[in-house]
Amino acid sequence: MDKRDATPSLRIGVIGLGMGRHHLAAYQTHPAAEVVAVADMDQARLTEIADKYGVARRYLTGEEMLEQESLDIVSVATPNKFHMPIAVAAFKAGCHVLCEKPMAMNAAEARQMIAAAQAAGKRLMINFSYRFSDQSMALKDQVDAGVLGDVYFARTLWHRRRGVPKFGGWFGQKELSGGGPLIDLGVHRLDLALWLMGYPKPVWVLGNAYNPIASAMAREQGARYDVEDMAVGMIRFENGAMLEIEASWAANVKEREWMETRLFGTQGGLVQRNTEETYKFEAEIYLERNGAHYDMALHQPSRPAPSAMVHFVDSILNDTPHMATGEEGLLVMEILDAIYKSAQEGRPVQIA
Ligand SMILES: NC(=O)c1ccc[n+]([C@@H]2O[C@H](COP(=O)([O-])OP(=O)(O)OC[C@H]3O[C@@H](n4cnc5c(N)ncnc54)[C@H](O)[C@@H]3O)[C@@H](O)[C@H]2O)c1
Repeated sequence: MDKRDATPSLRIGVIGLGMGRHHLAAYQTHPAAEVVAVADMDQARLTEIADKYGVARRYLTGEEMLEQESLDIVSVATPNKFHMPIAVAAFKAGCHVLCEKPMAMNAAEARQMIAAAQAAGKRLMINFSYRFSDQSMALKDQVDAGVLGDVYFARTLWHRRRGVPKFGGWFGQKELSGGGPLIDLGVHRLDLALWLMGYPKPVWVLGNAYNPIASAMAREQGARYDVEDMAVGMIRFENGAMLEIEASWAANVKEREWMETRLFGTQGGLVQRNTEETYKFEAEIYLERNGAHYDMALHQPSRPAPSAMVHFVDSILNDTPHMATGEEGLLVMEILDAIYKSAQEGRPVQIA
């Protein structure tokens, strides 16, 4: 029996109601999932979102919610600094965890989260939401079917002309965020490229980080800002392939918002990119067949993509593996750590 037909059987709590409100809305589309409690330190936000989605049980902190409630799944959508401690507390309370990206502040914290999940025998998923689009999943099907042949190079990026999160907030403070656009935006594009490439094992990384534009803007506003405004990295994998990543909140490019991921393979190449500087995407594949070159644009995807939340609930109910695992999140954090370290030390960094 498809367990989705069952009456609500999974009790869910959502912590942090900025991005968390989208988790809430997505869970509510699943007939077997019920968001029974929400938490946010901002009382006005807590009331507004809990009222809007009709959630009766409300807490000012995630910690209090975990103590009071008996939950099956907890979504963690707080500022990055709190992902690890809240996820670990949720595992101790016997919950599965869907954690926002970036998984944690660094790889060491990510390892703590995986250890806690293993000790509890619970699942950990990271909300790498850019996989969960029709275009991304259609491309993944083609790569997995071997249409590109061997993938030996990829380039993945997310640039903004001027899209620095509000100055004075947590995004621009390293002690709360762990970093700037690389850990915020780059993490999505990095995961997407790695996932399409089959998560090859990274060996070494060369990276750099800059802060010429946002730091000047912050100074003008008298605001604190101690993260990069752009970072770049080259990653070499054990299989010989390489990946280039670029991410910025402020760069002198034409586009207001520019996301693009390209894979170069022996039989074909692909691109997934946003259109009209928006959050709409398109997918194309380029092939050589019998000496002729073909361009294929995705018209109709083979399957509609579920949201990460619906996928997580289904995986738990049907006892099937879930995507975007903690282990993949850890690998992303190891690469991010190495890019920041390489930027700081001015040399390539080996990943053990
Ligand atoms: N997947 C995506 O596309 C996507 C998009 C945006 C943000 N995010 C991620 O979501 C997370 C939150 O980002 P945001 O933009 O919503 O930030 P935000 O600052 O708007 O919201 C975070 C909320 O968490 C609350 N909070 C902090 N500590 C708490 C605690 N201990 N208990 C309860 N509530 C607590 C704050 O009061 C705040 O309302 C970040 O990790 C961010 O990277 C992901």
